[in-house]
Amino acid sequence: MSIGILTSGGDCPGLNAVIRAAVLKGTAVHGLDFVGIKNGWKGIVEGDLMELGRPQVVGISKQGGTILGTSRTNPFEGGGPERVAEVMKESGMEAIIAIGGEGTLAAAKRLTDAGIKIVGVPKTVDNDLSATDYTFGFDTAVQIATDSMDRLRTTGESHQRCMVAEVMGRHVGWIALHSGMAAGAHAILIPERKTSIEEICDWVQSAHDRGRAPLVAVAEGFKLDTMDDAHSERGLDAFGRPRLGGIGDMLAPEIEARTGIETRSTTLGHIQRGGTPSAYDRVLATRYGMAAVDSVLEEHWGRMVALRGTQIVHVPFEDALGRLKTVPQSRYDEAAILFG
Ligand code: F6P
Repeated sequence: MSIGILTSGGDCPGLNAVIRAAVLKGTAVHGLDFVGIKNGWKGIVEGDLMELGRPQVVGISKQGGTILGTSRTNPFEGGGPERVAEVMKESGMEAIIAIGGEGTLAAAKRLTDAGIKIVGVPKTVDNDLSATDYTFGFDTAVQIATDSMDRLRTTGESHQRCMVAEVMGRHVGWIALHSGMAAGAHAILIPERKTSIEEICDWVQSAHDRGRAPLVAVAEGFKLDTMDDAHSERGLDAFGRPRLGGIGDMLAPEIEARTGIETRSTTLGHIQRGGTPSAYDRVLATRYGMAAVDSVLEEHWGRMVALRGTQIVHVPFEDALGRLKTVPQSRYDEAAILFG
């Protein structure tokens, strides 16, 4: 049996560990063959494939990015299920392991409904998929953000400045919450909780009054109570979603003007998605990759692997797509005890 593997949507650390584990278990234990589909759904509609066996996956679990490449291509704009079935038939591919986030899994669901044999592996640094406790990539992103905030603190303390650190998190504030808590931020601003500029300045002022250099962690999707939409000044992405980034730069002068405290902003951006995955992400990704092969053999079409506690389970795509895993109010309230 020959299985295609693709990575689609924004990349994140751990994708290569999934690919390696699937190929190693599939070939060694079950005698399966694999085909690499290049650049996400784009590769399957364009028939852009690559060899994918043991030699191609040697030593890649510690490499960031994806050896297959990725894109935010929608397969329904390039031919849909008929074209996907045609390329699969031509190349002898019987099933696909699709590794991706919400957009990828939504496309995978539509293709599965049309009869294409697909199993999914969830991926997103934002950790916003509700059907799984954690996605790989998140732990690495949190560590990068925490390290960066630790660095911002030493320069902030030297100059008695307020430092604003903007992290990823389009709809949910998990990266901001965890990295902000780990770095001891004096305010954590997340998309789930609109906040007034006055409240933010109160936290900044109070930290400053205690002789601290205030640190504000803000998710890119955060909105002030006066804003209807998240800050976006960079147009739309390939899925037609606003490209976010820049809320930190917007807040910093406001904080400075209202408190008189010199304030600087840093947007971490794609640094959070690059480089070596953490040990936790490598292990999770490896377990997902092996479980995805089992999913194919058990013909769990239309289902994705997921983490529940410490167990890997298989859940329908729609469970991951119905709603986002947002930061619960209780987790925000817990963190807010230490603000200011
Ligand atoms: O969805 C994950 C994510 O990292 C978001 O946090 C961010 O808004 C987006 O991807 C950035 O996407 P791109 O790499 O296309 O700029």
